Amino acid sequence: MEEIQHVAVLDFGSQYTQLIVRRVRELGYFAKLYALEEFPDIGKPGAIILSGGPRSTSEPDAPDIDFDALQAFGVPVLGVCYGMQLLNIKFGGSVQASDKREYGPAKLVPAETKGLYEGLSRESQVWMSHSDTVSDLPSNCQVIARNQHGTPVSLQWGERWFGIQFHPEVTHSHEGTRILHNFLLHAEKLEPFRIEDFKKELLDGIRETVGTKQVVCGVSGGVDSTVLAVLLHEAGVNMRAIFVDHGLMRKDEGDEVRNNFHRMGVPIETVDASERFLTALAGVTEPEKKREIIGNLFIDVFWDSVGNAELLAQGTLYPDVIESASNAKSKASKIKTHHNRVDRILELQAQGKVLEPLAELFKDEVRALGTSLGIPHDILHRHPFPGPGLAVRCPGEVTEERLEIIRNCDAIFIGHLKESGWYDRVWQAYAGLVPVKTVGVKGDERSYEWAISLRAVISEDAMTADWVELPYSLLRETSNDILNGVKGINRVLYDVSTKPPASIEWE
Ligand code: XMP
Repeated sequence: MEEIQHVAVLDFGSQYTQLIVRRVRELGYFAKLYALEEFPDIGKPGAIILSGGPRSTSEPDAPDIDFDALQAFGVPVLGVCYGMQLLNIKFGGSVQASDKREYGPAKLVPAETKGLYEGLSRESQVWMSHSDTVSDLPSNCQVIARNQHGTPVSLQWGERWFGIQFHPEVTHSHEGTRILHNFLLHAEKLEPFRIEDFKKELLDGIRETVGTKQVVCGVSGGVDSTVLAVLLHEAGVNMRAIFVDHGLMRKDEGDEVRNNFHRMGVPIETVDASERFLTALAGVTEPEKKREIIGNLFIDVFWDSVGNAELLAQGTLYPDVIESASNAKSKASKIKTHHNRVDRILELQAQGKVLEPLAELFKDEVRALGTSLGIPHDILHRHPFPGPGLAVRCPGEVTEERLEIIRNCDAIFIGHLKESGWYDRVWQAYAGLVPVKTVGVKGDERSYEWAISLRAVISEDAMTADWVELPYSLLRETSNDILNGVKGINRVLYDVSTKPPASIEWE
């Protein structure tokens, strides 16, 4: 992405750094996160942001930056929290270390509502999370905002170097995005980030890397792998898309995935391994054991079908990459599989044979790319579905009988959600088996059957989730249809558990 004048965000370790990238992209500019060691490789950015971080500038080995090199870019620089403290020291000021932590909301009172604070309220809420504070200010420095107690919380050195003590990237800073926007207006050459241009670059890059070799990718029917496969197809390279059907899919899902690819004109190969998976899972009840069996077998089946792959393409997204980059402080990207046996992939990766074309994109950008590739809306807006499939919705042993019950109940529930328009308003929904038999009455006879639990949640990132207040009428119709139409179920429950403490899936 060298050609696009991007915003380089340098990571000093704050938990919010990824959000800075997100906000800048929301403003329509391409931003990229770099670990500090990558500073020499940031190319030609149009603006630079130094993130916050958990350390203190007074520590002997505190994260540092080559200030001459930073100045040599000649572009606007914004230091956030630790970034501001570091800049103040670099310009000849100082920072006072403190053990006391200021955490939470504070008032921002700009000296003037212009420049970085153009268009802002006279007083605005911002979010603080720091211990140290700037003390002596260098001669070229102005205080451009204070908090409610008159303490400086924002500095400007010269024309285009800014510092802010608070975090503009979190939503608790009410006008934070506006501040970032104002900062970016100081850049001369930032180019708007357009997914169409990005797509063109991706296609050219894929053609160049793949050349006449063959590239293999796994598809699951999910958004990321679908966009990846369609992208490779669009690039016109020699591509094989392999769909491993582990038999833990939802009702008619295998056919749906094949039809979807058919209607997009992208050939896929299906490997039906359902028997193998069910046999391997027979008698296993421990959730993590089930996951391990499924993961390992999945890798085996996939690699058996791949043969001598020259190149492997994976649908790794940006959050996966930066999560591991900031954790491991290395460029090695996390491998997106739901399995443990990744040795062969690691080996290929070390040889530069793993392509991750989506690795610079967030999920909604992948969807935008998918739209520009002509992928239908319903495919791009499918609910997430876990790699181990219905196994995580089937506590206890996974048997074909249980899977069939889950599939039928799930299809009824999802059908009602789609019909009523609730599907798109919910982040994820499913039916999970409660393998406990209770007494009921069916016709004139007593029944002794299992219960099914319906779950519908909203979430932003799957880390937390809340259950959805679906209309009673929808739940009633779903329940009626399940009780009348699915053999083996005599009770329908609705799951009203938040995450935490519950998880989204049952296992
Ligand atoms: P939990 O149940 O942990 O789920 O709250 C959070 C999100 O992750 C999905 N999930 C998985 N996805 N392999 C996957 O690929 C897994 O083993 C797995 N477990 C949970 C789940 O569907 C939800 O979206």
